[in-house]
Amino acid sequence: MITFDFDKERVEKTLRSYLDPSVNLILQIGNYILDGGGKRLRPYLVLKFSNMLRGYNKEEDYILAAALEYLHTASLLHDDVVDGSEKRRGRPTANRIFGNDSTVLVGDYMYANALYLFSIYGDIDMIKNVSDSVKKMAEGQLLELKKIADFNISFDDYYKIVLGKTAVLFGSCCYVGAALSTSDQNLKDSAYNYGINLGVAFQIVDDILDYEGDEEKVGKSLMNDLKEGKITYPLLVVKDKLSDKDKEFIKSVIIDKSPSIENLLKAKKIVESYGGIEKAKEDARDFMRKAIENLIDFPDNKDKEELVKLAYYIVERES
Ligand code: IPE
Ligand code: IPE
Ligand code: MG
Ligand code: MG
Ligand code: MG
Repeated sequence: MITFDFDKERVEKTLRSYLDPSVNLILQIGNYILDGGGKRLRPYLVLKFSNMLRGYNKEEDYILAAALEYLHTASLLHDDVVDGSEKRRGRPTANRIFGNDSTVLVGDYMYANALYLFSIYGDIDMIKNVSDSVKKMAEGQLLELKKIADFNISFDDYYKIVLGKTAVLFGSCCYVGAALSTSDQNLKDSAYNYGINLGVAFQIVDDILDYEGDEEKVGKSLMNDLKEGKITYPLLVVKDKLSDKDKEFIKSVIIDKSPSIENLLKAKKIVESYGGIEKAKEDARDFMRKAIENLIDFPDNKDKEELVKLAYYIVERES
Protein backbone atom coordinates (compact mmCIF):
# COMPACT_ATOMS: atom_id res chain seq x y z
CA MET A 1 0.00 0.00 0.00
CA ILE A 2 1.24 3.50 -0.74
CA THR A 3 1.77 5.78 2.19
CA PHE A 4 0.20 9.20 2.37
CA ASP A 5 1.95 12.16 3.76
CA PHE A 6 -0.09 13.55 6.65
CA ASP A 7 0.25 13.88 10.40
CA LYS A 8 -1.68 10.74 11.30
CA GLU A 9 -0.42 10.86 14.89
CA ARG A 10 -2.01 14.24 15.40
CA VAL A 11 -5.27 12.97 13.89
CA GLU A 12 -5.21 10.01 16.30
CA LYS A 13 -4.58 12.26 19.27
CA THR A 14 -7.38 14.59 18.28
CA LEU A 15 -9.75 11.65 17.80
CA ARG A 16 -9.06 10.42 21.35
CA SER A 17 -9.30 13.83 22.93
CA TYR A 18 -12.95 14.54 22.10
CA LEU A 19 -14.47 11.35 23.50
CA ASP A 20 -16.27 12.09 26.78
CA PRO A 21 -14.16 10.40 29.48
CA SER A 22 -16.94 10.49 32.06
CA VAL A 23 -19.02 7.85 30.30
CA ASN A 24 -17.36 4.49 30.46
CA LEU A 25 -18.94 2.86 27.40
CA ILE A 26 -18.12 5.84 25.17
CA LEU A 27 -14.44 5.43 26.00
CA GLN A 28 -14.52 1.63 25.82
CA ILE A 29 -16.37 1.28 22.53
CA GLY A 30 -14.89 4.47 21.08
CA ASN A 31 -11.35 3.33 21.81
CA TYR A 32 -12.09 -0.22 20.69
CA ILE A 33 -13.15 0.85 17.20
CA LEU A 34 -10.40 3.48 16.94
CA ASP A 35 -7.74 0.97 18.08
CA GLY A 36 -8.73 -1.29 15.18
CA GLY A 37 -6.96 1.17 12.91
CA GLY A 38 -8.54 2.13 9.62
CA LYS A 39 -7.17 4.17 6.77
CA ARG A 40 -8.29 7.56 8.10
CA LEU A 41 -9.07 8.62 4.54
CA ARG A 42 -11.71 11.12 5.56
CA PRO A 43 -9.42 13.21 7.83
CA TYR A 44 -6.75 12.93 5.15
CA LEU A 45 -9.09 14.55 2.61
CA VAL A 46 -9.94 17.43 4.95
CA LEU A 47 -6.28 18.12 5.69
CA LYS A 48 -5.14 17.88 2.05
CA PHE A 49 -7.78 20.25 0.73
CA SER A 50 -7.17 22.88 3.37
CA ASN A 51 -3.40 22.55 3.00
CA MET A 52 -3.60 22.72 -0.79
CA LEU A 53 -5.32 26.11 -0.57
CA ARG A 54 -3.63 27.60 2.51
CA GLY A 55 -0.15 26.09 2.57
CA TYR A 56 -0.38 24.76 6.14
CA ASN A 57 -2.84 23.06 8.50
CA LYS A 58 -4.13 24.62 11.70
CA GLU A 59 -5.78 23.24 14.83
CA GLU A 60 -9.34 23.69 13.50
CA ASP A 61 -8.46 21.56 10.47
CA TYR A 62 -7.54 18.67 12.76
CA ILE A 63 -10.62 19.05 14.94
CA LEU A 64 -13.01 19.07 11.98
CA ALA A 65 -11.05 16.25 10.33
CA ALA A 66 -11.61 14.26 13.53
CA ALA A 67 -15.30 15.24 13.53
CA LEU A 68 -15.70 13.81 10.02
CA GLU A 69 -13.92 10.62 11.08
CA TYR A 70 -16.41 10.39 13.98
CA LEU A 71 -19.23 10.50 11.44
CA HIS A 72 -17.56 7.71 9.50
CA THR A 73 -16.93 5.71 12.70
CA ALA A 74 -20.54 6.13 13.78
CA SER A 75 -21.69 4.87 10.41
CA LEU A 76 -19.45 1.79 10.76
CA LEU A 77 -20.76 1.01 14.26
CA HIS A 78 -24.33 1.23 13.01
CA ASP A 79 -23.57 -0.53 9.72
CA ASP A 80 -22.17 -3.60 11.44
CA VAL A 81 -25.32 -3.90 13.53
CA VAL A 82 -27.53 -3.50 10.46
CA ASP A 83 -25.44 -5.92 8.36
CA GLY A 84 -24.94 -8.41 11.18
CA SER A 85 -21.21 -8.32 10.43
CA GLU A 86 -18.73 -10.39 12.40
CA LYS A 87 -15.47 -8.69 11.60
CA ARG A 88 -14.20 -5.13 11.12
CA ARG A 89 -10.62 -3.91 10.92
CA GLY A 90 -9.37 -7.44 11.51
CA ARG A 91 -11.20 -7.86 14.81
CA PRO A 92 -14.65 -8.90 16.05
CA THR A 93 -17.13 -6.08 15.43
CA ALA A 94 -18.05 -3.82 18.37
CA ASN A 95 -21.60 -5.21 18.38
CA ARG A 96 -20.22 -8.72 18.89
CA ILE A 97 -18.14 -7.63 21.87
CA PHE A 98 -20.39 -5.01 23.50
CA GLY A 99 -23.83 -5.87 22.10
CA ASN A 100 -26.12 -4.01 19.72
CA ASP A 101 -27.66 -1.63 22.25
CA SER A 102 -24.47 0.00 23.50
CA THR A 103 -22.93 0.00 20.02
CA VAL A 104 -25.89 1.88 18.52
CA LEU A 105 -25.90 4.41 21.35
CA VAL A 106 -22.17 5.11 21.09
CA GLY A 107 -22.71 5.57 17.34
CA ASP A 108 -25.41 8.15 18.18
CA TYR A 109 -22.99 9.87 20.53
CA MET A 110 -20.40 10.10 17.77
CA TYR A 111 -22.87 11.63 15.30
CA ALA A 112 -23.92 14.22 17.85
CA ASN A 113 -20.35 14.90 18.94
CA ALA A 114 -19.29 15.54 15.35
CA LEU A 115 -22.06 18.04 14.74
CA TYR A 116 -21.32 19.71 18.07
CA LEU A 117 -17.67 20.19 17.07
CA PHE A 118 -18.85 21.74 13.80
CA SER A 119 -21.05 24.18 15.71
CA ILE A 120 -17.97 25.40 17.58
CA TYR A 121 -15.13 25.17 15.08
CA GLY A 122 -16.99 25.32 11.76
CA ASP A 123 -19.36 27.84 10.19
CA ILE A 124 -22.96 27.70 9.08
CA ASP A 125 -22.06 26.90 5.48
CA MET A 126 -20.08 23.80 6.58
CA ILE A 127 -22.80 22.78 9.03
CA LYS A 128 -25.39 22.89 6.22
CA ASN A 129 -23.22 20.78 3.97
CA VAL A 130 -22.33 18.23 6.64
CA SER A 131 -25.78 17.87 8.17
CA ASP A 132 -27.23 17.41 4.69
CA SER A 133 -24.75 14.56 4.21
CA VAL A 134 -25.68 12.93 7.51
CA LYS A 135 -29.34 13.03 6.44
CA LYS A 136 -28.49 11.50 3.07
CA MET A 137 -26.41 8.76 4.73
CA ALA A 138 -29.47 7.58 6.62
CA GLU A 139 -31.65 7.88 3.50
CA GLY A 140 -29.16 5.89 1.39
CA GLN A 141 -29.00 3.09 3.92
CA LEU A 142 -32.78 2.98 4.27
CA LEU A 143 -33.12 2.66 0.50
CA GLU A 144 -30.50 -0.10 0.60
CA LEU A 145 -32.64 -1.99 3.13
CA LYS A 146 -35.71 -1.55 0.97
CA LYS A 147 -33.88 -3.01 -2.03
CA ILE A 148 -32.67 -6.14 -0.25
CA ALA A 149 -33.40 -9.25 -2.34
CA ASP A 150 -34.95 -7.09 -5.08
CA PHE A 151 -33.56 -8.45 -8.33
CA ASN A 152 -35.09 -5.50 -10.24
CA ILE A 153 -32.82 -2.97 -8.57
CA SER A 154 -31.76 -0.36 -11.16
CA PHE A 155 -28.53 1.61 -11.70
CA ASP A 156 -30.41 4.65 -10.54
CA ASP A 157 -31.32 2.93 -7.25
CA TYR A 158 -27.71 1.81 -6.81
CA TYR A 159 -26.33 5.32 -7.34
CA LYS A 160 -28.83 6.76 -4.88
CA ILE A 161 -27.78 4.17 -2.29
CA VAL A 162 -24.06 4.69 -2.81
CA LEU A 163 -24.29 8.45 -2.99
CA GLY A 164 -25.97 8.34 0.38
CA LYS A 165 -24.14 5.60 2.21
CA THR A 166 -20.63 6.52 1.10
CA ALA A 167 -20.08 9.33 -1.41
CA VAL A 168 -21.66 12.33 0.34
CA LEU A 169 -19.36 11.89 3.34
CA PHE A 170 -16.32 11.91 1.05
CA GLY A 171 -17.85 14.99 -0.61
CA SER A 172 -18.28 16.74 2.73
CA CYS A 173 -14.70 16.01 3.80
CA CYS A 174 -13.41 17.72 0.67
CA TYR A 175 -15.93 20.55 0.96
CA VAL A 176 -15.01 21.25 4.57
CA GLY A 177 -11.29 21.08 3.80
CA ALA A 178 -11.71 23.63 1.03
CA ALA A 179 -14.10 25.80 3.07
CA LEU A 180 -11.55 26.00 5.88
CA SER A 181 -9.21 27.82 3.49
CA THR A 182 -11.35 29.66 0.93
CA SER A 183 -14.75 31.29 0.54
CA ASP A 184 -14.73 30.76 -3.23
CA GLN A 185 -17.94 28.82 -3.85
CA ASN A 186 -16.69 27.36 -7.15
CA LEU A 187 -13.69 25.81 -5.46
CA LYS A 188 -15.80 24.46 -2.63
CA ASP A 189 -18.20 22.90 -5.14
CA SER A 190 -15.35 21.39 -7.16
CA ALA A 191 -13.89 19.92 -3.97
CA TYR A 192 -17.30 18.42 -3.16
CA ASN A 193 -17.61 16.92 -6.65
CA TYR A 194 -14.13 15.42 -6.45
CA GLY A 195 -15.20 13.75 -3.20
CA ILE A 196 -18.51 12.50 -4.57
CA ASN A 197 -16.90 10.82 -7.58
CA LEU A 198 -14.10 9.46 -5.45
CA GLY A 199 -16.68 8.09 -3.03
CA VAL A 200 -18.65 6.27 -5.74
CA ALA A 201 -15.40 4.74 -7.05
CA PHE A 202 -14.49 3.83 -3.49
CA GLN A 203 -17.78 2.02 -2.86
CA ILE A 204 -17.65 0.14 -6.17
CA VAL A 205 -14.21 -1.12 -5.14
CA ASP A 206 -15.53 -1.98 -1.67
CA ASP A 207 -18.21 -4.05 -3.43
CA ILE A 208 -15.52 -5.77 -5.52
CA LEU A 209 -13.46 -6.52 -2.41
CA ASP A 210 -16.47 -8.15 -0.80
CA TYR A 211 -16.40 -10.64 -3.70
CA GLU A 212 -12.71 -10.89 -4.47
CA GLY A 213 -10.68 -9.54 -1.58
CA ASP A 214 -8.20 -11.25 0.67
CA GLU A 215 -9.94 -11.48 4.05
CA GLU A 216 -6.69 -10.84 5.95
CA LYS A 217 -6.05 -7.61 4.07
CA VAL A 218 -9.64 -6.37 3.98
CA GLY A 219 -10.15 -7.13 7.68
CA LYS A 220 -13.88 -7.84 7.20
CA SER A 221 -15.81 -11.05 6.61
CA LEU A 222 -16.27 -11.37 2.86
CA MET A 223 -19.25 -12.35 0.66
CA ASN A 224 -21.35 -10.56 3.23
CA ASP A 225 -23.32 -8.46 0.72
CA LEU A 226 -24.72 -11.38 -1.23
CA LYS A 227 -25.35 -13.26 1.99
CA GLU A 228 -27.47 -10.31 3.12
CA GLY A 229 -29.35 -10.29 -0.19
CA LYS A 230 -27.62 -7.14 -1.42
CA ILE A 231 -27.10 -6.70 -5.13
CA THR A 232 -23.93 -4.65 -5.36
CA TYR A 233 -22.03 -3.39 -8.39
CA PRO A 234 -20.36 -6.59 -9.73
CA LEU A 235 -23.73 -8.34 -9.86
CA LEU A 236 -25.66 -5.25 -10.94
CA VAL A 237 -23.63 -4.94 -14.14
CA VAL A 238 -24.23 -8.55 -15.21
CA LYS A 239 -27.65 -9.38 -13.85
CA ASP A 240 -29.51 -8.61 -17.08
CA LYS A 241 -27.13 -10.72 -19.14
CA LEU A 242 -27.50 -13.92 -17.15
CA SER A 243 -28.89 -17.09 -18.74
CA ASP A 244 -32.25 -18.15 -17.33
CA LYS A 245 -30.58 -20.91 -15.35
CA ASP A 246 -27.95 -18.62 -13.82
CA LYS A 247 -30.55 -15.96 -13.11
CA GLU A 248 -32.77 -18.40 -11.25
CA PHE A 249 -29.83 -19.63 -9.22
CA ILE A 250 -28.67 -16.13 -8.24
CA LYS A 251 -32.22 -15.15 -7.36
CA SER A 252 -32.50 -18.17 -5.09
CA VAL A 253 -29.29 -17.15 -3.31
CA ILE A 254 -30.34 -13.55 -2.72
CA ILE A 255 -33.71 -14.50 -1.26
CA ASP A 256 -32.15 -17.19 0.94
CA LYS A 257 -31.81 -15.77 4.46
CA SER A 258 -28.84 -18.02 5.25
CA PRO A 259 -27.27 -19.24 2.03
CA SER A 260 -24.62 -21.96 2.25
CA ILE A 261 -20.97 -21.15 1.57
CA GLU A 262 -21.11 -23.45 -1.48
CA ASN A 263 -23.99 -21.50 -2.99
CA LEU A 264 -22.33 -18.17 -2.25
CA LEU A 265 -19.15 -19.35 -3.96
CA LYS A 266 -21.11 -20.67 -6.92
CA ALA A 267 -22.88 -17.29 -7.25
CA LYS A 268 -19.51 -15.55 -7.06
CA LYS A 269 -18.18 -17.77 -9.89
CA ILE A 270 -21.18 -16.87 -12.04
CA VAL A 271 -20.67 -13.13 -11.48
CA GLU A 272 -16.98 -13.53 -12.36
CA SER A 273 -17.68 -15.59 -15.46
CA TYR A 274 -19.92 -12.86 -16.91
CA GLY A 275 -17.16 -10.29 -16.38
CA GLY A 276 -18.83 -8.52 -13.45
CA ILE A 277 -15.58 -7.83 -11.63
CA GLU A 278 -13.74 -6.34 -14.64
CA LYS A 279 -16.70 -4.20 -15.63
CA ALA A 280 -17.02 -2.92 -12.07
CA LYS A 281 -13.34 -2.02 -12.02
CA GLU A 282 -13.62 -0.25 -15.36
CA ASP A 283 -16.55 1.82 -14.14
CA ALA A 284 -14.74 2.62 -10.89
CA ARG A 285 -11.90 3.98 -13.04
CA ASP A 286 -14.36 6.23 -14.90
CA PHE A 287 -15.50 7.72 -11.60
CA MET A 288 -11.87 8.10 -10.56
CA ARG A 289 -11.17 10.10 -13.72
CA LYS A 290 -14.25 12.26 -13.17
CA ALA A 291 -13.01 12.93 -9.65
CA ILE A 292 -9.62 14.10 -10.91
CA GLU A 293 -11.19 16.46 -13.51
CA ASN A 294 -12.60 18.47 -10.62
CA LEU A 295 -9.11 19.37 -9.43
CA ILE A 296 -8.33 21.51 -12.48
CA ASP A 297 -8.94 24.91 -10.83
CA PHE A 298 -6.86 24.15 -7.76
CA PRO A 299 -3.24 25.31 -7.42
CA ASP A 300 -0.67 22.90 -8.85
CA ASN A 301 1.23 21.78 -5.78
CA LYS A 302 2.24 18.69 -3.86
CA ASP A 303 -1.16 18.31 -2.20
CA LYS A 304 -2.90 18.29 -5.55
CA GLU A 305 -0.50 15.64 -6.81
CA GLU A 306 -1.34 13.55 -3.76
CA LEU A 307 -5.06 13.91 -4.34
CA VAL A 308 -4.55 12.61 -7.87
CA LYS A 309 -2.48 9.73 -6.51
CA LEU A 310 -5.15 8.99 -3.92
CA ALA A 311 -7.76 8.60 -6.66
CA TYR A 312 -5.57 6.02 -8.43
CA TYR A 313 -4.89 4.23 -5.16
CA ILE A 314 -8.59 3.98 -4.37
CA VAL A 315 -9.26 1.97 -7.49
CA GLU A 316 -6.24 -0.33 -7.08
CA ARG A 317 -6.43 -0.79 -3.29
CA GLU A 318 -6.61 -4.19 -1.64
CA SER A 319 -7.87 -3.03 1.75
C1 IPE B 1 -15.59 1.30 4.98
O1 IPE B 1 -14.80 2.43 4.83
C2 IPE B 1 -16.99 1.66 4.72
C3 IPE B 1 -17.26 2.06 3.33
C4 IPE B 1 -17.65 3.24 3.01
C5 IPE B 1 -17.12 1.08 2.27
P1 IPE B 1 -13.21 2.37 4.88
O2 IPE B 1 -12.73 1.30 3.95
O3 IPE B 1 -12.66 3.74 4.66
O4 IPE B 1 -12.94 1.90 6.38
P2 IPE B 1 -11.69 2.11 7.34
O5 IPE B 1 -11.95 3.39 8.07
O6 IPE B 1 -10.44 2.17 6.52
O7 IPE B 1 -11.74 0.94 8.26
C1 IPE C 1 -20.64 1.09 3.41
O1 IPE C 1 -21.50 0.03 3.46
C2 IPE C 1 -21.21 2.34 4.01
C3 IPE C 1 -21.23 2.45 5.47
C4 IPE C 1 -20.44 1.83 6.30
C5 IPE C 1 -22.23 3.35 6.02
P1 IPE C 1 -20.94 -1.46 3.56
O2 IPE C 1 -21.89 -2.25 4.35
O3 IPE C 1 -20.54 -1.96 2.21
O4 IPE C 1 -19.60 -1.24 4.40
P2 IPE C 1 -18.64 -2.38 4.89
O5 IPE C 1 -18.26 -3.21 3.67
O6 IPE C 1 -19.39 -3.16 5.90
O7 IPE C 1 -17.46 -1.63 5.45
MG1 MG D 1 -21.37 -3.49 6.08
MG1 MG E 1 -23.88 -1.96 4.91
MG1 MG F 1 -18.95 -3.33 1.82
